Amino acid sequence: MAAHTERWLEHWSDEEITEIESAVAHFEARDVDLLDMRASHYVAPQALQRVMRIRNDVLHGRGFALLRGLPVERWTIRQAAIAYWGMGLHMGEPCSQNGKGHVLGHVKNLGLDYGDAGTRGYQTNARLPFHTDGSDIVGLLCWRSGKAGGLSSLTSSTAVFNRLALRRPDLARVLMQPFCLTRWGEVPEGRKPWSEAPVFMSHGGRMIARYVRSAIHKGQDLAGVPKLTAQQIEALDMLDEITKEPDMVLDMEFLPGDIQFVCNYNVFHSRTAFEDWPETERKRHLLRLWLACDDGPDLPDVLIQNCEGQTAGGRPNGIAVPGVPFAAPLEAA
Ligand SMILES: [Fe+2]
Repeated sequence: MAAHTERWLEHWSDEEITEIESAVAHFEARDVDLLDMRASHYVAPQALQRVMRIRNDVLHGRGFALLRGLPVERWTIRQAAIAYWGMGLHMGEPCSQNGKGHVLGHVKNLGLDYGDAGTRGYQTNARLPFHTDGSDIVGLLCWRSGKAGGLSSLTSSTAVFNRLALRRPDLARVLMQPFCLTRWGEVPEGRKPWSEAPVFMSHGGRMIARYVRSAIHKGQDLAGVPKLTAQQIEALDMLDEITKEPDMVLDMEFLPGDIQFVCNYNVFHSRTAFEDWPETERKRHLLRLWLACDDGPDLPDVLIQNCEGQTAGGRPNGIAVPGVPFAAPLEAA
């Protein structure tokens, strides 16, 4: 993949950019809240044809793509959010990404300490180890790229599993048994403060993965969660080691305007630590979408039962806490 960027890195055509800008202008003129936008409000036939082809590749083919060249430097952040949100509405159903109901997420260093129980990685400038997000597809739009670092890295979770199974089949089996993951204090009524699922689940002809080691680690502090065994820790360590092997990893740079889409169930993502510019308006800033797709991969029951809730199409719907209305803020909070 590193030697064949043409397989996964696409550039918008001038005609597509014109369509997108016109769709954005049209929506802005209506003066409607982003949350009230419907897919039919966003008309950009050629651009959406590309988006939908990529969506299919992400869900059922290669598992990821990078779209380059949205001219965000001449847009406001609201215009960028509209352009991106509109694509998301055509691809799937945007899901809440935290207990505050944020369906448009902000990946930005808020100066928080990743060591604190409630801090999520996206609020820091720390290196993030390989993991999955919620929902079927995670999208990132780069609004500002920061001063240095912050490379995005991907690896095929299926390839990681295969290597692990060849090297240590005993540990591969351990990772196919349940682990407890904290819900980060964002607990729907009637649920435990943690969820339980294996890291790897063989289902529907695919190896479905769900892995957030920080959530497993922080789950250990919750009363009622059994302590990890030495063998479980060895298995998690070996998984992490394999994701560090250079032939497993694809690094990519984010330029302003880049959009990355990744299928959570077959691709792990991470990023390197980064350094920010001192000026607030130049700080690294990505807009995130979690999209549930009705025709996403077949999922094992344990993933459906353990999720906070489901979309009308029966897909896990992210971190939807009952009673918390959706919000699509234009700034990190
Ligand atoms: Fe993530």
